[in-house]
Order: sequence, then C-alpha cells, then structure tokens
Amino acid sequence: MSETLASDRPQTPMQAIMDPASRADPYPLYEQLREKPVWHEPDGSYVISRYEDVARLIRDPRLSVEPQNSPRGGQGLSFLNMDPPAHDRLRRMTMRHFGPPNDPGRVEAMTPALEAMVTSLIDAVRGQDRIDVVANVSYPFPVTVIADLLGVPREDEPRFHAWAEGIVQSQDRDPREPGRRTESAEKAFQELAGYMFDLISQRKGAPRDDMLSRLVNDDGPDGVMEPGEMISVSVLLLLAGHETTVNLISNGMLTMLRQPHLLQLLKDNPAIAPGFVEEMLRYEPPVHFTFRGALCDLDVGGETIPKGSALQLILASGSRDPRRFERADTFIADRPNNQHLGFGSGIHACFGAPLARLEGQIALKEMARRLVNPRLLQDPPPYRFNPTLRGPRALPVAIDGVLP
Ligand code: HEM
Repeated sequence: MSETLASDRPQTPMQAIMDPASRADPYPLYEQLREKPVWHEPDGSYVISRYEDVARLIRDPRLSVEPQNSPRGGQGLSFLNMDPPAHDRLRRMTMRHFGPPNDPGRVEAMTPALEAMVTSLIDAVRGQDRIDVVANVSYPFPVTVIADLLGVPREDEPRFHAWAEGIVQSQDRDPREPGRRTESAEKAFQELAGYMFDLISQRKGAPRDDMLSRLVNDDGPDGVMEPGEMISVSVLLLLAGHETTVNLISNGMLTMLRQPHLLQLLKDNPAIAPGFVEEMLRYEPPVHFTFRGALCDLDVGGETIPKGSALQLILASGSRDPRRFERADTFIADRPNNQHLGFGSGIHACFGAPLARLEGQIALKEMARRLVNPRLLQDPPPYRFNPTLRGPRALPVAIDGVLP
C-alpha cells in the first residue's frame, strides 16, 4: 500500500521531497508529512517525520545503516554505513586523531588557521560590488579546511571536487529505485579511492603533520587500520567535509539576508555565534534526511513496521516539529534546549560536528562583520538538485564594500 499527499499533483512523500519544485522551501511539505507519524511508499519503505519518532529511531540499535538494508544499495561510506561493532572500532580509531580523549585540543587549535582562511577569502572580493557567497566563501572554506586537515594537497582540489560531485550526484536519484551507484559515480569513487591510496602510501613511514599520516602510522589500542579501511575513512571524511558545511554557511547567509535583523544581531554580538549556528542547524539544516533498515519489527505511531523494511527519517522535519520546538518556523538566535537533529543523534551522530560548528561560526560572523550592506540578488537562489544535502548552488549578493 502506498499513499499520496493531497495536492494538485498527487505524489508520494518521497516523490514530493525529491521534486526540484520542493527544494527552495520543503517546510510546508514537511508540515503536511507530520500530520501522520508514518507514511507508506510504493517500494515498501516508510517515511517518518515527527521529532519524537525520528529522534527515537535514529538512536535505536534495532535499526541498521548497512547498505544492504538501505533502498540505495551500493557499497556505503565507511563507518557511516557500518553497524556495531565494526562501526565503533573504526570510528574510535579515526577519532583518536580528531578529538577527545586522545587528541582533545585538535579542533580548537585550528581556530587561528580557519580565521585566516576566511579573512583571505573575504579580502579576495574587495573591490567587487557583487559576490557569489557559495563560490567565494561557503565552498572553498570547508574544502580547504578538510584538505589541509587530512593532508590532501590544495592544488588537487579541481580533481577531488569533480569526484566528490560525481559521487554525491549519484545519490540524487529517486530512492524508490533501488540499485547500485551509477557507472559514472562508480568510476568517480574508484578514482578518488585510487588517489587516496597513493597519498596514504606516500605517508606510510614518511609521516607529515596531517591526519592521513597519523591514521596510517598509528598502532593504538585497536591496532592498525587496513589499507581498504584507510581509503574508505579518508574518502568519507573528504566527502563529509565537502558537501555539508558549504550548505550551513550558504543557508546561514541566505537566512540572514532574508531577515536582516539577524545579520545585524550577529554583527553587533559576535559572541552569540555558537547559539546562532545551533539554531541555523535546526532551522535550515544542511542534511535533510537519512536512511535506516529495520532489523526486527518496530512499533511506530501505533503501527508495526516489519523487519527488513527501509525507513527514511526526515531529520529536517523533526527539527521543525512544533510538538518539540516552540515557534518552530521562527529563527530564535538564543533558543533554549535546542536539541535539533542537524547532526543526527546516537552512535552515528556527526563525527565532524565540532569542526563544522567552528567553521560555521567563523564564516557567518566574519561575513556579517565585513560585508557592507549585503543584499540578496535572487530569492530563492538556484538550488543544487540534491534533496538530502540541500543548499543553494549559487548565492548572488550585492555589496557596497568590504571592511578590513
Ligand atoms: C554543518 C556540517 C555538517 C552536517 C550538518 C553534518 C551532518 C551529519 C549527520 C546528520 C550525520 C549522521 C548521519 C546518519 O546518522 O545517518 C553525520 C555523520 C557524519 N559526519 Fe557530518 N555533518 C557535517 C559536517 C561534517 C564534517 C566537517 C565532517 C568531517 C570532518 C563530517 C563527518 C561525518 C562522519 C564521518 C559521519 C559518520 C559518523 C558515524 O557514522 O559514526 N561531518 N553528519
């Protein structure tokens, strides 16, 4: 049994979500979805959109992230697509070089370098009266950060950007059509993996001050990472560092330009940036939904979801659920108790969250402070097709100058 939404064009929930017409403003659609706890898709999968259900299910060990349990199939992205115990071991081995308890100061210590990057990106648009926030800041900033962190040469950016786009675009197809990655995405994946393999081989025994060197030369409590694991972890980090924070910064700037009092607020009070970015992750999140497979029968909203079913958890809808968040459709910079779903939750909660938060705070603070009288030139801006990693393809903005 499948269901369609009431509208002039009958569509199933996932058809409506995938539809490019929904991209600029999917929130009314999510509101419609939240009228019921569970929706049925024609392929037998289920769509879940209320906060309470999404937050509970995403932490439930009876749900799997393994590709064979996902309608997308494919080979998955390292520990993002592994269940325990394999997930926990690989995440722990990777985290040893990214945060507590082994390397607690790693992300915070990056602050001056991140500030310098944003400063030079904004310096570069001096003299222009028109900028593209995506091309000038939101894209190059996190990409350079993740490349530097891993030890991937910056000058290879055009190559790994093309591979990353190829892989991510393959996720853009209709999730009701199960199957493998498309041929071109498979090729992009293989090429990126080969590129990473070469880098990792160079660092083995000849370490530099970067994360690839630390990962490949580590012999910690969990032992040494296999070459295949190293490749998949580094591809995951490069892609995750590439395709998400860009949307946080672009969506953040778009929100501030649409509501100029927010721009002014951040400009006058840069110290509020942490709470401001948290609210942005709730209000305009970079990742809209994720998939899980039921390892046994599950009870959701009084209904039994049978073992083996695929579930699509609409994180972005949960974060706008008025049952959980007061005035859910309003951006409240100092919103209390803001446990949004922007970074997911549970054992797969975003690994890069501390870095993404810092990047978002620095980029938004600096743009609010330095860009003089920024005005949106196109509203809505053109969006990337991707409904999961949702964000503008370009964000043209007029400015009257750039402060030092
Ligand atoms: C604003 C930017 C970001 C957002 C909104 C975001 C969001 C997410 C979400 C929602 C998940 C959970 C997916 C799921 O449960 O299915 C996730 C997982 C993950 N993220 Fe992020 N992410 C961001 C930035 C980053 C960065 C910069 C990195 C790398 C440094 C990163 C690395 C990862 C990894 C490795 C996982 C898998 C964690 C696991 O399975 O244990 N993310 N992210």
